[in-house]
Amino acid sequence: MKRIVLSLAFASLAAAPSLALAQATPAPAAFTLPALPYAADALEPAIDAQTMTIHHDKHHQAYVDALNKAVAADAALAGQSLEQLVARAGTLPAVVRNNAGGHWNHSFFWKTMASPAQAGAPSPALATAIADSFGSLDTFKAAFKEAGTKRFGSGWVWLIVGADGKLAITSTPNQDNPLMDVAEAKGTPILGNDVWEHAYYLKYQNRRGDYLDGWWQVVNWAEVSRRYAQAMAKR
Ligand SMILES: [Fe+2]
Repeated sequence: MKRIVLSLAFASLAAAPSLALAQATPAPAAFTLPALPYAADALEPAIDAQTMTIHHDKHHQAYVDALNKAVAADAALAGQSLEQLVARAGTLPAVVRNNAGGHWNHSFFWKTMASPAQAGAPSPALATAIADSFGSLDTFKAAFKEAGTKRFGSGWVWLIVGADGKLAITSTPNQDNPLMDVAEAKGTPILGNDVWEHAYYLKYQNRRGDYLDGWWQVVNWAEVSRRYAQAMAKR
């Protein structure tokens, strides 16, 4: 008799967790850190492995964690996509604007780069558009570098497709981007570089211009060209 009672007790204990799981409310979908699309040392020597590891594993993770925390604390934000949050960033608390921007910008940034061997060149269509807007690829790079070096403090420099279908260089402070309602120059980003010191300080220290020069070695032109074609097709 004692053995039967014990068996029943164990059976009920074993059943409890699955019952609890079945009755639990599903957890809201949380934003997650995307894996780097290459090894941390793939962008050497332009960007060193230690910088990439800290930048991705610590800085980007911190934006994701802070965004999840802020969204979980505000029922009005539940279920909104990252793109929806970014588009109305100016109406949201600073913690959401900054961390949604941080998550979007870095997710975009990792895919903007490739190893030097795979950097490639702009597609013919993008090369033509760059020449039309800036004169040449070299003059475009010089203007992009100037925008990046002039960004005071922390921020980003972008190549965007504007509403007029033209390419333009713009810069945003902090973790803002050209998709935000608050952006001075709005458009679809196809290329973006992170000019926060955390992106380059270990290797380049104060030499942001050298970082901006070296960065061209690891621009994934196939991806940038794909984004350009996509942006033009949506118009
Ligand atoms: Fe960053």
